[in-house]
Amino acid sequence: MAGVAKQNILLGVTGGISAYKSVELARLLLKAGASVRVVMTEAAGRFVSPLTFQAVTGNPVRTALFDEKHEAAMGHIELARWADRMLIAPASADFMARMAQGVANDLLSTVYLACPSPVAIAPAMNTNMWQHPAVQHNLSVLEGRGVRVLGPASGEQACGDKGFGRMLEPMEILATLKKELQSMPFASKKVLVTAGPTHEAIDPVRFIGNRSSGKMGYALARAFQEKGADVLLVSGPVSLASPPGVERIEVQTALQMYEAVFENIHAVDIFAGCAAVADYRPEHASEQKIKKSADKMDITLVRNPDILAEVAALEDGPFTLGFAAETEKLIENARAKLQAKQLDMLAANRVGEGMGFERDENSLRVIWSAGEEQLPVQDKQLLAEALVDLLANRYQANE
Ligand code: C5P
Repeated sequence: MAGVAKQNILLGVTGGISAYKSVELARLLLKAGASVRVVMTEAAGRFVSPLTFQAVTGNPVRTALFDEKHEAAMGHIELARWADRMLIAPASADFMARMAQGVANDLLSTVYLACPSPVAIAPAMNTNMWQHPAVQHNLSVLEGRGVRVLGPASGEQACGDKGFGRMLEPMEILATLKKELQSMPFASKKVLVTAGPTHEAIDPVRFIGNRSSGKMGYALARAFQEKGADVLLVSGPVSLASPPGVERIEVQTALQMYEAVFENIHAVDIFAGCAAVADYRPEHASEQKIKKSADKMDITLVRNPDILAEVAALEDGPFTLGFAAETEKLIENARAKLQAKQLDMLAANRVGEGMGFERDENSLRVIWSAGEEQLPVQDKQLLAEALVDLLANRYQANE
């Protein structure tokens, strides 16, 4: 699963003398087992002919945004969807500026905006250009948005100047990419995480809900995303920002969460049910605020669907990870839940007496049918990363 092999790599080539090195880069990527498609800017075509890339990759090379023939075959949106990752090498100062500003005035810049997959750039330019505050500013904007920056290297440049600005050698770019992909066990995998509580309305101002800050689910979504997954977060009401690069659907109730999950579950490889879903909802929610006139009040509750159990029961469904918050008999209850819901993995934690909810730290006992592991008390982000690593092992073993 890891590595460059079987990856769809969209190689973007922009205008710079080192564009000639990208021909070798395309060849190396292909040799490593990747599928490569090349999109060139007009300026790149002045340094290397599109025909050269076409001959090396065996695929047509795209240069123009408005190309009737190609838009019918693989248009800019299809190209963006096709790519498991984009690699822009060389990335010129001009192209970095257009990326930073979101300018979509040619095919490559348009594909970049439309591409949800990870993007890496290998900058190449004169050393004074590289050091210019404008370029450095664009660089930090791009890095802040999660663009991976490879290089540049220092050394003698085509123009005779010395210093930083040379594009990394194709072998170095390939090695960096390979290393990165090896630590990306979920590259091209789609993960759906539910997080937070659900609020079940009693009337327009009151609800029944579970105590949950959503911190663990959000940490998990971030950890999956950082390991290469395409993550959809279905979140109950919480006051947390979405992790960068994670798509979020916001819901209030268990039924809405159920709907959002089942609308998207068909394409999902891994489902992590981290939400504290309310097991019951009031049978009827009052349309008006209920007045406190009576001494006693009865609310009839009806069961909500068990989202996780229904996902786990799907034929050819995703790998399932469930959570169990228990106040007693942690392992016993967790094993029973793993069995009853037919889960692939379950993470259990003790709650109550200052443990679990609304805290930044937690510990987990992770169990699966033939084993278990204790993850010690630590910051929830680190805990989520350790859990995702464990899950990667089980997931790979299952595959
Ligand atoms: O059975 P219990 O509620 O303890 O199970 C907890 C696990 O099941 C969690 O992973 C939670 O996200 C999931 N769950 C669910 N839908 C429910 C109740 C729980 O997905 N209605």
